[in-house]
Amino acid sequence: MKKKKSIQDFYGMKEKGEQVTYITSYDFPTATFAEKAGIDMILVGDSLGMCVYGYEGTMPVTMNQMIVHSEAVRRGAPNTFVVGDMPFLSYQTMDEAAVENAGRFFKEARVDAVKLEGGVRVASRIKAIVDAGMLVMGHIGLTPQSSSQLGGFKAQGRTLESAKAQIEDALAVQEAGAALILLEAIPPEVSGYIRDLLTIPVLSIGAGPHCDGQLLIVSDMLGIFEAFTPKFVKRYAEVAKVCTEALTEYVKDVRNRTFPEPKNIYPMIPEELTKFKEWAAAEKKAKEMKPPK
Ligand code: KIV
Repeated sequence: MKKKKSIQDFYGMKEKGEQVTYITSYDFPTATFAEKAGIDMILVGDSLGMCVYGYEGTMPVTMNQMIVHSEAVRRGAPNTFVVGDMPFLSYQTMDEAAVENAGRFFKEARVDAVKLEGGVRVASRIKAIVDAGMLVMGHIGLTPQSSSQLGGFKAQGRTLESAKAQIEDALAVQEAGAALILLEAIPPEVSGYIRDLLTIPVLSIGAGPHCDGQLLIVSDMLGIFEAFTPKFVKRYAEVAKVCTEALTEYVKDVRNRTFPEPKNIYPMIPEELTKFKEWAAAEKKAKEMKPPK
């Protein structure tokens, strides 16, 4: 059986230069695939708003949705480190709300850590959750929950000024007590600098190769989500194509009556079939002999 990695294991991996493998998952089946594949860490991301619910962004996602999906992922991957993603307005208002909502992830879905977006401006939220005894992953760079302030889903840290702001945010996240940090859509020179500066593991989604591990969104890398594919994604499968082809074939088979086949039915017990045929024939005859009303 796979041994679940702990936060200490991730610190050890950073020390030894070993890469952490990290993927999103929103449901039981993909969580089982991830665990079987030996993935180190799963994020139940609020990207499920787009990938599962078909929303335009992550803003409408609720705590209850996140909890239901995190529970399913935990059932599918009992031996993998699971991170619950705190949705919009579950932590932005005040420290107490952040602690209560983070606590729900741990109590109801038995996650190992929670992730929240932002640097300097959420430092007190991170500290409050950590002080309550929970592990936190920070998330800076392109932070989808504040994408309207960033002018859209745009890479960050591409100018000296912006790079310095990312570094300041990364330090604030570490100083607030976060155990891990995720950098999204940041140039590799800047993410590599942050990786060397921080003592906590620094993970990347679209932040280049110089980090302590890589995250991809499962729906992007498996080719499930087709609306758009960010530049940093590598496609490992074309699941949407395979599913659409299979469903098209099924529609054809049903219309042509080539499904179901004899192997897809439940036959009657032979002696019972003889009796059934005799009974049906008698019933039919009796009906024919009945005078019309
Ligand atoms: O929700 C999510 O999947 C995320 C990633 C984009 C990092 O937060």
